[in-house]
Amino acid sequence: MNTFERIGVIGSGAMGRGIAQLFAGAGVEVLLHDSRTEAIEQALAYNRDLLERAAAKGKLSAEALAATLARMRPAYSLGELADCDLLIEAIVESLDAKQSLFRELEQLVGADAVLASNTSSLSISLIASACQRPQRVAGFHFFNPVPLMKVVEVVRGELTDPQVIERLAALAEGAGHFAAVTPDSPGFLVNHAGRAYGPEALRILAEGVATPAQIDRILKDSLGFPMGPFELFDLTGLDVSHAVMESIHGQFYQDPRYSPSALVPARLASGLLGRKSGQGFYRYAEGKAVPDEPVARAPVPIDRPFWLDSRDVAVRDQVTAVLAAAGAELEQGSQPGPQAICLVTPLGEDASSLIARTQLPPCRTLALETIAGFDKRRVLMRQPALDPDLLAQARQALGADGVPVEVINDSPGFIAQRVLAGIVNLGCEIAQRRIAAPAVLDRAVRLALGYPHGPLGFGDHYGAQKIAQILRALHDLYQEPRYRISPWLRRRVQLGLPLTTAEEGA
Ligand code: NAI
Repeated sequence: MNTFERIGVIGSGAMGRGIAQLFAGAGVEVLLHDSRTEAIEQALAYNRDLLERAAAKGKLSAEALAATLARMRPAYSLGELADCDLLIEAIVESLDAKQSLFRELEQLVGADAVLASNTSSLSISLIASACQRPQRVAGFHFFNPVPLMKVVEVVRGELTDPQVIERLAALAEGAGHFAAVTPDSPGFLVNHAGRAYGPEALRILAEGVATPAQIDRILKDSLGFPMGPFELFDLTGLDVSHAVMESIHGQFYQDPRYSPSALVPARLASGLLGRKSGQGFYRYAEGKAVPDEPVARAPVPIDRPFWLDSRDVAVRDQVTAVLAAAGAELEQGSQPGPQAICLVTPLGEDASSLIARTQLPPCRTLALETIAGFDKRRVLMRQPALDPDLLAQARQALGADGVPVEVINDSPGFIAQRVLAGIVNLGCEIAQRRIAAPAVLDRAVRLALGYPHGPLGFGDHYGAQKIAQILRALHDLYQEPRYRISPWLRRRVQLGLPLTTAEEGA
């Protein structure tokens, strides 16, 4: 494989300096350019500091430190990049700026030099359309911080030469990054797959189901996400996240799967951007989120038995054990007794619909989430007809062993089921559209977004059949194409195959 010998990085901000560090560390000569001289100096000083600290901790030998630093040099003018065989731009996210940079570079560099863009949202084919030789243009989309996020999307524009893709992928793999090759489609691979997490959380918030902090706690504790969606919005900046949502929604011609949230514009206008403005979905003091005051609840007497609709032995055993700790009894009959607090365990359905279907008493019936995790956090779902005294008894009884209980409002698919089903369904759609093979999709998402499973792996872990049932219920109840089931998912459920089962390309 014909690898690259000298890389020119244009744009020395957060991404450019990381890209320079990655490849200099992997043994390639890197020239760093920026339209602002001080940005070049700052980036080199930043990288030097980072590498010196790694050396001080023994993570890098003195020789490796010296060699890596020597491979990273400033280029104060664009002209100094003329001998580079790979140019990677990480300048401002503007189509005009990127196109005019590439036009200028084409006049400067050799005929075979490759032009790569770190854009996260612009079409590679559109950037390339400004070039005389679009075959040499590709996307090379890294994640922040570049040296630590060990994945890069190698984006194939419509006209990109396959050899260019192979060479970039080999370069990335040589530097220890997983190269996820993907066609030029909106959001590429990772930002597309990520549309099911934050946006669905905003939708749940907009429906008044729960607070941002509750939604974050539930998703982290029941499904194992490293950060809640609202923590993530605050970290990334709601302005940045919303721009991505709008851009992908627009590029898919307003497909409701990708709808941004109408809650956002007022928050942006009010400067509630997140950490960087001191307040977002959380308030920050000295860089840390200020926690909510815990709500003290007076204990209530538990004077009723419970009844549970589930015949699942594991679920019944768990509920029996926690009720025993509360000194309450679980009835065994197939129908609830006249006093019982009725716990129902819907999959995709909301509590109200289940009550209407089963004719259980509305004032005594509430729902318990059972799809994911009983040990870290429990979720109870009320509905408008529920007697508040019985809710208080249920809340206390189900937390009798010390596990926190969240009470949310009625929602098809609670919170965890709904977000999980959306992630799996979108992953299936990505596989269906041949944006990535199943294994590539799952690995890229785990590395870039830190999910405990990739979208398809998530489906297989919790059961594709259950996911399909949740989606059908969401689709029925909302009557919205947002929740339509992907053919990839439907077919694999119909055929009894894992969601990770690949199929020939189109
Ligand atoms: P940044 O604002 O930290 O750095 C951009 C740098 O480019 C600045 O130093 C600026 O002076 C320089 N610049 C702007 N126009 C220029 C031009 N015409 N010629 C030379 N230098 C120019 O931005 P950041 O965050 O590093 O992003 C850069 C690119 O990477 C953008 O396209 C962004 O969308 C993309 N990206 C950013 C990620 C992130 O998490 N920050 C993640 C993945 C991609």
